[in-house]
Amino acid sequence: MSNFHIKHLEEYYQVYRKSVTNPEAFWEEIAEEHFLWRKRWNNVLKWDFSKPEVKWFEGAKLNITENCIDRHLLTRGEKTAILFEPNDPNEKAQHITYNELYKRVNKFANVLKQQGVKKGDRVCIYLPMIPELAISVLACARIGAIHSVVFAGFSATALATRINDSDCRIVITSDGSYRGKKTIDLKSIVDDALTETPNVKNVLVVKRIKSDIHMKTGRDKWLAPLLDEASDICEPEIMDAEDPLFILYTSGSTGKPKGMVHTTAGYMVYTAFSFKNAFQYTENDVYWCTADIGWITGHSYIVYGPLANGATTLMFEGAPTYPDWGRFWEIIQKHKVNQFYTAPTAIRALAKENLDFVEKYDLSSLKVLGTVGEPINEEAWHWYNDNIGKKKCPIIDTWWQTETGGIMISPIPYATPTKPTYATLPFPGIQPALMDENGNEIKENQVNGKLCIKFPWPSMARTIWGNHQRYYDTYFSAFKNNYFTGDGAFRDEVGYYRITGRVDDVIIVSGHNLGTAPIEDAINEHPAVAESAIVGFPHDIKGNALYGYVILKEIGESRNHDNLRKEINQIITEHIGPIAKLDKIQFTKGLPKTRSGKIMRRILRKIAVGEMDNLGDISTLLNPEVVEEIILKRL
Ligand code: WT7
Repeated sequence: MSNFHIKHLEEYYQVYRKSVTNPEAFWEEIAEEHFLWRKRWNNVLKWDFSKPEVKWFEGAKLNITENCIDRHLLTRGEKTAILFEPNDPNEKAQHITYNELYKRVNKFANVLKQQGVKKGDRVCIYLPMIPELAISVLACARIGAIHSVVFAGFSATALATRINDSDCRIVITSDGSYRGKKTIDLKSIVDDALTETPNVKNVLVVKRIKSDIHMKTGRDKWLAPLLDEASDICEPEIMDAEDPLFILYTSGSTGKPKGMVHTTAGYMVYTAFSFKNAFQYTENDVYWCTADIGWITGHSYIVYGPLANGATTLMFEGAPTYPDWGRFWEIIQKHKVNQFYTAPTAIRALAKENLDFVEKYDLSSLKVLGTVGEPINEEAWHWYNDNIGKKKCPIIDTWWQTETGGIMISPIPYATPTKPTYATLPFPGIQPALMDENGNEIKENQVNGKLCIKFPWPSMARTIWGNHQRYYDTYFSAFKNNYFTGDGAFRDEVGYYRITGRVDDVIIVSGHNLGTAPIEDAINEHPAVAESAIVGFPHDIKGNALYGYVILKEIGESRNHDNLRKEINQIITEHIGPIAKLDKIQFTKGLPKTRSGKIMRRILRKIAVGEMDNLGDISTLLNPEVVEEIILKRL
């Protein structure tokens, strides 16, 4: 029996039991057999959730790029590592072999060194989905620099906040990006951001759209000539197991974005292990995850997990709608994709279109279908199962988070019987718990509760960059000795989990994690706005959409309210990005508040979804009279 690759249900239960009765022995065996270490660990695990402190494979030395690239060269040198499918279907796909990836990563790593980047320095990467994005991530890891990838859909302000928070001194970007018919001028977004980031001295620019952009002398440099000059050999920096590998920002319900810190060895072991099992990847498969590398899904399951397994990972630059709604299916046919991993919001959007877009293509190469990012509704699940998988491909509904680093609850395809809308069973090593209102663990089945994880797993985030106290407060203070996920879940009669959604003020829109606070802060920047509150309401494609209640400074203002709505969304776009725009904006005289002045979002949420007869007791509010006005003017 192999602990690393689970092939049927009994094996899952056996492996799972072992992983929870003796976690250290379990992970030690996996670490020993499947990776390249420069030095062995002294301890498999040390942990204390009350601090919280978690250390996996302490004392071990390694470089993750040796595991993702070098060690495959002997046996897989000519195998495609990254298969790049450009935005324009008429542009040729690129097959980057492991040999070529090795050279390109080393060259890039040497350029970074030459620019003065050292082990432990933070490097901000703001790139579209082009090979240089994956290569720059790996180049950082090669030299022990900490990458901080910022999704290239974020605005200049959002980028600046992230650059400053982790004090990045160098930014890697491009002259622009393609998305469908549009080109986006990324470099000018970076230029705007850098007016707010005094410490950035260095910008490396990839040429992608060949537009004539402004290059600031002394600061901005084209990457290509530097790469041409650089050697293709770069000795890997030997890292400690617990050295940070990257920072990735995620929204919180309050305050600025949280820079989640992931470390080297545990992250590598868990993403490799979970990739293998979640997708049942076998040697000649072509695997495709449609996420952007700017999110954790792309870090773990486009770059590190697949490459650690010597897989072929497809990177798609474009949009599912370009040149038409058949593009995903066309790509699956063209590259004979075997595992396909996407988000429920994409499935819902595609399902709305004519089936001809699907039926034109041969999808018979598919073996496994995955979803991630938000709960998948039953209708979308069946559409995916019937029309894409032709009822022959198991659907893995994978629940996890930026903070967890890897897939936590998911079926293992061809082993775990699936059940629509259920993420099903925990992965080996993952010990979920459901908590009741009083903070006690609920042991029975067929119950709802707040989802916690009660034991460490190798790929969990170790801290929030620069704010360990916030890490504790956010994840470890609500339930003693447990990691609290922020999600609610239902456990059915056989122990399957169904994730019911966030129980905090985070709203998932089109699979993007949005905190209410930063959006409200942006809206409040508008000179006419006094105060605002955001809630989510169900949307048939996006899963959730945003509903904003806005108080204007001058009551009875004569300004055109539609213009004001546009301006508010414009400010949100500038501060966060277009993904955070509001679908509905209701102007109101007041917001329901508790006597201590806290906005009662629960009431606003109910009104937004139309559950007005179920508001509960509002008599204890500071201002119960506003509720009636809000209901009357509801959009
Ligand atoms: C939140 C984490 C994990 C990569 C993408 C999102 C929600 C994620 C599922 C799923 C129901 C899900 C949760 C979670 N979520 N996957 N399969 N079923 N909900 O990462 O941006 O950190 O968001 O996404 O609410 O807490 P993220």
